[in-house]
Amino acid sequence: MSKKRVLTGITTTGTPHLGNYVGAIRPAVEASGQDAIESYFFLADYHALIKCQDPRQVRQSSKEIAATWIALGLDTDRAVFYRQSDIPEITELTWVLCCNAAKGLMNRAHAYKAAVQANEAAGEDPDFGVTMGLFSYPVLMAADILMFNAHEIPVGRDQIQHVEMARDIAQRFNHNFANVFTLPEAVVDDSVAVLQGLDGRKMSKSYNNTIPLFGTEKQLRKAINKIKTNLLEPGEPKDPDDSTVFQLWSAFAGPAEVADMRKAFVEGIAWGEAKKQLFELINDEIAPARARYDELMADPGYVEEVLQQGAARARQESVELMTKVREAVGISTMV
Ligand code: TRP
Repeated sequence: MSKKRVLTGITTTGTPHLGNYVGAIRPAVEASGQDAIESYFFLADYHALIKCQDPRQVRQSSKEIAATWIALGLDTDRAVFYRQSDIPEITELTWVLCCNAAKGLMNRAHAYKAAVQANEAAGEDPDFGVTMGLFSYPVLMAADILMFNAHEIPVGRDQIQHVEMARDIAQRFNHNFANVFTLPEAVVDDSVAVLQGLDGRKMSKSYNNTIPLFGTEKQLRKAINKIKTNLLEPGEPKDPDDSTVFQLWSAFAGPAEVADMRKAFVEGIAWGEAKKQLFELINDEIAPARARYDELMADPGYVEEVLQQGAARARQESVELMTKVREAVGISTMV
């Protein structure tokens, strides 16, 4: 039986936070240990250029994200872990797919539409500040996915549309030229929590409400102390289902500990005490990986080596696939 191939990309802007860890990294690292799955994970650094024009930040974020995944125990002998920009065939494929993707389909992409709507609301030209990168972004993402014939693409809800677009583009290519591409499917795991941030909204860099995954112990404690709570005093019953502290607790604790904390809330645990316990719980889980992360960041030679090996493995396939694609569209040598 052939294995199920799972692929996902991480855009290299920003520093990994607890929401990334719980929502994406932890489940991906776990899945990559399963025998029936072939995992492809990559640093989407060309995607980063769409949102970020600061070279230092792109470079730093790539390093942090790679070190994070390795520190958390991604088995890079099994999973293929690589940097998008090390695979030139991806950008080559992007052009071929651009010539197959309908512009009308791209007009409907959420990220582009949101930018246009914001401009219209501000009385600007609809395309003000919109680059071709932002507009074509779903095509680059389609190339990422189709290059490796991935079956399943684990993503957040906001990315489902892009995976559907990749499927559409693949279908069109297969129909017009040759049956080259596997049709991918988006997978959203509802059992994985979308973490709340310091202010109770979804934890996200764009809301500036994140808790960094590998800050120092002191920073973690400080961030947890900043989580917004209400003014209920110690001894007053608190509603666990309306609490970011409890939501975070549930993302790290086992079922018995979750039940205990629920009881403690109803019995009026003090916010300070709940936060102290939350800090200890999270810190216990991530402390060993944090130490490894600090080592890798101080000496990234190993990280680079892992990425180079990943790229070599990935290119064995991408070169072959690109040959098929060129052949299919009529671009090949004369003899
Ligand atoms: N666009 C995705 C995001 O912002 C990241 C990404 C790039 C990706 N290429 C991908 C995800 C391919 C899945 C498959 O989250």
